[in-house]
Parts: sequence; structure tokens; C-alpha cells
Amino acid sequence: MSGWPHHHLIDLARFSREDFATVLGLAQRFRTLPVSGGRKLPALQGRLVTTLFFEPSTRTRSSFELAARRLSADVQSFTPSSSSLSKGETLLDTVLTYVAMGADVLVVRHRCTGVPARLVHHLRTLGIRASVLNGGDGLHSHPSQGLLDLLTLARHFNPGDPGPRALEGRRIALVGDVLHSRVARSNLWALTACGADVVLCGPPTLVPDLFRRFVEAPPPGQQEDPVARRGRIEVCRTLEEALPGADAVMTLRLQKERMRQHLLSSLESYHRCFGLTHARLRLCGGSAPVPVLHPGPVNRGVEMSGALLSDPEHSLVDEQVLNGVPVRMALLYLLAASEVAQGAALDQSSLNPSSSRP
Ligand code: CP
Repeated sequence: MSGWPHHHLIDLARFSREDFATVLGLAQRFRTLPVSGGRKLPALQGRLVTTLFFEPSTRTRSSFELAARRLSADVQSFTPSSSSLSKGETLLDTVLTYVAMGADVLVVRHRCTGVPARLVHHLRTLGIRASVLNGGDGLHSHPSQGLLDLLTLARHFNPGDPGPRALEGRRIALVGDVLHSRVARSNLWALTACGADVVLCGPPTLVPDLFRRFVEAPPPGQQEDPVARRGRIEVCRTLEEALPGADAVMTLRLQKERMRQHLLSSLESYHRCFGLTHARLRLCGGSAPVPVLHPGPVNRGVEMSGALLSDPEHSLVDEQVLNGVPVRMALLYLLAASEVAQGAALDQSSLNPSSSRP
């Protein structure tokens, strides 16, 4: 763990294959440790994790908070509607207030792309060491979701060794609103880094052709891609083209709150063309049941049928939620470990569960 190179987590474009292996390995370990029912690991005792969600969330926020508690961290959460933002306090001053209270890790979600990265810049300028963990920013990035999706797929394909190699050579279809999806962008970096080929499917208004070249451009400030050879990205306009040969299908939520123009004629016509059903899933071929993922929240009957969503033979949606906790434990652990990298590293004993109740 001493080689973990990231003090903040803004996106997955900066992750090497080894970084993905580290997170998946640690998350898999946390997943198998007995940390439910009030048992906790002492790894982050004395650390303060602050969740600052300027945009609504059910899954991400609560699983980060559960993850932090399972590692014995103190947890503090900020609610914008009842905060001094309404009196005109700026976002930066709000964050600095929580830093002054001793926050070690700030988990930040914001509707505007780039807010977590700007915070990193400000904290560096001010010489503040708190880590920023992106809980989802605008259209840009949702790294913890990309990682929990990766763990879910890796566990499905190779339960005995759910590392990046489990994704090598797989064909993963991402269907729907790619344009507005930070989840899709994080998955594109993660899946291609692990050697999977990704096929994007949707109408041109939601899946522009440009996405074929998405992973070719390194993010600002990065000289070169940390991954030597990535999987390919293909763009298809129909499920009939996209699904044959797919090993898994991820449907994406139609992000009505981010759509500024009328990009669809109707939700009914969208479901007719791109909604996933048992019948459509048979287009994938093969004899084994094809897994279906969705990051949530789901528009039932739009992105996929209610029957498919609730079918345990195909749906990994609950598994994604479940995997969110150990993945976020791994991320908090790794960032807190980098926090003390110059001094004592967290040791093996910090991963042994205690029976103390929260
Ligand atoms: N997948 C996801 O980010 O869900 P929430 O918006 O509920 O956190």
C-alpha cells in the first residue's frame, strides 16, 4: 500500500492498471471481512471524513458515510439547504470551515464540472493537506461509481480473482445517455484501462460520434496516458448492432435534470428503441445469463423494464450498491494512508476487525 500515488481522487484518467488492481484487491478484502452488525476496523480511528454534497444523492453519500464508519473514522455531513450558503457564504469558505474543524478527507459532489479539481487547487495554494475525493461533478467524473462497477463486473466474470484481468477482452455495452453521464465517462476510463472493449449505444443526440476517441485525450495537466494499451470504444445506433457478443450491459439513466434541449421525442419512444428487456437481452447471444447493471437511480420502464431490473438471474443493481461500500472503504483507506505517508504507515493490525459498536 505504501506505493499508492494519489493524494486526491478526481477522476480515473490518471489511474494505472496497478492502481485499479490495488483498489479492487483492497475492496475485495474489505468485502469479505466481517464488518457488519456494528463490527468495525480501526484503520481510520482519529480521522475525520466530511461529506459535502451540493447535489442530491442516496447511494454515494450514504455508502461513503457507512464506509468511513466501518473504518472507525469520525463522519461529518453537510446539508446545503440548512447551511450558511443561503446567507451568501461561498463554497470555498464553506469547505475551509470544515477543514478548520479538522477534516482529513472531503468527499465532494457538485452539479458543476470541475469543482473538486478547483478545490484541490485552492487547498494546495493554501498549503492544506486534506484530501479531496470526487463524489460526482457535473458531466465529468464519478470515480467511486466507476470503481464499484469495475468490482461488480470483475466479481461476476472471475469470482476467485476479481482483479483487472477479469475484464481483459470482454465486450461491455453502455446504453443510453452517455452525453450527460459522469458514470459513463468514469467507466470508459476504467474499463478500457483493464482491457475491455466498450460499445456505446444510443441516439446521436445522447451518444455523439466523438466518444469513439474519448480516451485518446489525456486530461489537462497530464502528459501521457498511464495505461500502455487500452480497450477500444465503438459507437452504435441500435441495440441490434450493439448487443451481439456483449458480455455485460450497463444502462445509463436519462439525466433529465441536465438536458437543456429536447434531445428525445418522448420517453416512450426512447424505451421502444433503447429500453432493455428480457427479449432484447437475448440479442447478446451465448448460453449464460448476461448481467445487467445500472448506476441508479433508475427510471423504471424507461432505461430497462421493471421485470429485468428485478430479475436476480440478470440484474446486478443490488450487487453494485453492495460493492459501493467496500470500494469506498478502500478509497478512504488509501487516501488516509497517503495522508500519513511521510510518517507511520497504517499497518496490518489496522485491518483487523474489532467488535466495538459504533
Ligand atoms: N449512482 C449514484 O451516484 O447514485 P446517487 O446519486 O444516489 O448517489
